[in-house]
Amino acid sequence: LSSIRVDVGALEPGSQLTVKWLGKPVFIRRRTQEEIDAARAVDVSDLPDPIAQNENISGSEPALDQNRTLDEAGEWLVMMGVCTHLGCVPLGDAGDFGGWFCPCHGSHYDTAGRIRRGPAPTNLPVPVAEFVDETTIKLG
Ligand code: FES
Repeated sequence: LSSIRVDVGALEPGSQLTVKWLGKPVFIRRRTQEEIDAARAVDVSDLPDPIAQNENISGSEPALDQNRTLDEAGEWLVMMGVCTHLGCVPLGDAGDFGGWFCPCHGSHYDTAGRIRRGPAPTNLPVPVAEFVDETTIKLG
């Protein structure tokens, strides 16, 4: 598996960058406290997809916000930027849940990248990722 390193030192809270990895977009977002609080206030039983979809943890863990982020504080969210419906690239800072919106057929994702409304069946997947130093995330 080929891995890449991404310098995230310039990312301010409330902003994100998109990198290409293995031919697909990957979203790296540094979340604000408001985004973290909103994601953590959600009851997993209200989610269409109750599974974390995080390759860094067991495949059956629940879709708690804490099971989606790279760090314990929940500031860093890394996920594939590919709608789980038919593969369009969702838009950031958009949709009815303050996260991402896929304009192709109207899927709304929340601030943890979890599907909340629309035809997409599952949460945006979190790929294998880790911090290798304070400002560098390694994908893969
Ligand atoms: Fe995103 Fe259909 S591809 S809603």
